[in-house]
Amino acid sequence: KIALMLQECGADLINCSAGIYETGLNCIEPASYADGWRIYLAEAIREKVSIPVVAGGIIRKPAMAEKIIAEQKADFVFLGRSLLADSQWVNKAWRGDSEAVRPCILCNNCIGSHYQGRSISCTVNPAAGREGDLIVRHYGGESLVETVVAGGGPAGMHAAIALRRRGIPAVLYERSPVLGGMLNWAALPPHKERIQEFKDYLIRELYLSGTEVILGHSFGEEECWSRRPGYIIMATGSAATKPSIEGWDEQFCWLLPDVYQQGRQISDSRVLIIGGGSNGCELADYLLSYNNQIIIVEEKDIIAHNMERKNRRALLERLAKGQVVLRKKSRVVKIEPGQVLIQDSQGNAENIGVEMVLAAVGFAAGDGLLESIPAQFRHHIHIIGDAAGPAGIKEALLQGEMAADSIARQIQCPIEKR
Ligand SMILES: Cc1cc2nc3c(=O)[nH]c(=O)nc-3n(C[C@H](O)[C@H](O)[C@H](O)COP(=O)(O)O)c2cc1C
Ligand code: SF4
Repeated sequence: KIALMLQECGADLINCSAGIYETGLNCIEPASYADGWRIYLAEAIREKVSIPVVAGGIIRKPAMAEKIIAEQKADFVFLGRSLLADSQWVNKAWRGDSEAVRPCILCNNCIGSHYQGRSISCTVNPAAGREGDLIVRHYGGESLVETVVAGGGPAGMHAAIALRRRGIPAVLYERSPVLGGMLNWAALPPHKERIQEFKDYLIRELYLSGTEVILGHSFGEEECWSRRPGYIIMATGSAATKPSIEGWDEQFCWLLPDVYQQGRQISDSRVLIIGGGSNGCELADYLLSYNNQIIIVEEKDIIAHNMERKNRRALLERLAKGQVVLRKKSRVVKIEPGQVLIQDSQGNAENIGVEMVLAAVGFAAGDGLLESIPAQFRHHIHIIGDAAGPAGIKEALLQGEMAADSIARQIQCPIEKR
């Protein structure tokens, strides 16, 4: 009815968005929403009016946009976050190179920054909001100075791609047989599968960039002498922190990465998770799929405090639906087979019966690689990503970009001559 009234009043076009800030999650949807979920709105309106109708909302892939138009569900599509993630989305779609589109992962950090009064930025696209600053200066031919990137997670892969875009030879060492680092398990919790697409995108770009990729091989002193790199970018990630709690027993006490590698073995169990930050809560969400009963113990009085608020709200709703018990302002003081002693901030203690204890209490940087680098090569080391201090995908990529930019500037104008 409203659409017809708008048409009658002289509207030239109707853009079918959904919701306002006050209506909750619909207007800038978190990752739990499916791609293209709003299209039915445009389709229904288009059946009634004769003016053009625009559809949009989580259109991430050119094929989906194409299909909406081909099936006459809308006359146009709009893109919001997809263009923040990749300003060249339309050009890539136009030339039929959909695989080259850098996919939005629906983390909502863009709108999160906006809410915090900061300028716009994007997790997967370091150039978003920095278009004037992050101008890629090509070396102007192939540089003779090689850079070694140690680590094939998001920071290392992005750094290598950024180096190659500047004409700098890059060789990437990854000690495991696969690329991706923490992206491999970050994509596992419910609704995080778009991270897998982003990982695939990075791997594709890495190989297309011409980076020499060496898998299953650690970079160390020996490789330093044989390669003699001009620069080293250390992107060796971080390791999960083990809590120092009396009774920790690896038979039934696991760290977060252990769970994602062997998680399917935890089912139909009573599980206590130490740490109610975003990692602990997403782990609970993941384990709910395997019919576990879950208790989260968090020292703060807030759960998932470090998450963007729309995705946080959707996650907390799922945890509530899964009857996850939240024990805030509490900590685990002792673990025994079959039970855990927890204590709240008032000093009240309680024994809770559990079968598994899982820890999601953070990550610590570094794995000793720096010490293995001979002194001659240490002047030109950049430490990026979690190796510099655990942060997130956004920081990892930005630091990779900045390291490549800094190396490119030094090659063009060596520090000694400045
Ligand atoms: C950073 C950002 C700012 C937005 N600001 C507005 C706004 O001011 N008014 C509005 O109606 N929608 C706004 N939106 C919502 C978008 O118009 C769009 O409906 C939504 O992001 C879903 O489309 P997408 O998946 O293509 O991003 C904003 C979205 C983002 C990501
Ligand atoms: S910040 Fe996240 S949600 Fe926003 S455009 Fe980038 S990837 Fe998408």
